[in-house]
Amino acid sequence: MIKVVFWSQTGNTEAMADAVVEGIQAAGGEGKAISVSDISAADLAGESVFALGCPAMGDEVLDEGEMEPFVEELLPSVSGKKIALFGSYDWGDGEWMRTWEGRMKEAGAVLVAEPVICNLTPDEEGLANCKALGEALAKA
Ligand SMILES: Cc1cc2nc3c(=O)[nH]c(=O)nc-3n(C[C@H](O)[C@H](O)[C@H](O)COP(=O)(O)O)c2cc1C
Repeated sequence: MIKVVFWSQTGNTEAMADAVVEGIQAAGGEGKAISVSDISAADLAGESVFALGCPAMGDEVLDEGEMEPFVEELLPSVSGKKIALFGSYDWGDGEWMRTWEGRMKEAGAVLVAEPVICNLTPDEEGLANCKALGEALAKA
């Protein structure tokens, strides 16, 4: 069961998480979208393949209430893990995701594909990109 852990305030990143799960299932795997409030970093630390989703918040950062502390706690355990990153944004240029990707890679995580970012509500192309991300995870 591949865990797709997300934080989402207005549902855009949650819709992306659901599409990632669809992609995992389309590739014959099992996946589950899980709100970050329902899982601890310690729970995820045992998984070798997983996805994380969070929109751009604050000033080009992760949600500072839940997602940032979760990621910070997870970082020491991500070396060698096969992961996927995704999230929604609005007015920025994706800086938050570049920063996040850099942090995960620096900690030794292996991204199964380029992060997927969607402007606000994911459109059809965005959802297809999320599905492809899920497929890449299932094959990892
Ligand atoms: C407090 C707050 C801060 C935000 N900061 C950024 C930002 O720095 N850059 C950006 O591109 N979008 C920013 N946004 C826009 C959100 O990333 C965008 O609305 C996104 O679709 C929300 O995803 P969600 O529906 O999963 O919560 C911000 C939104 C809020 C409410």
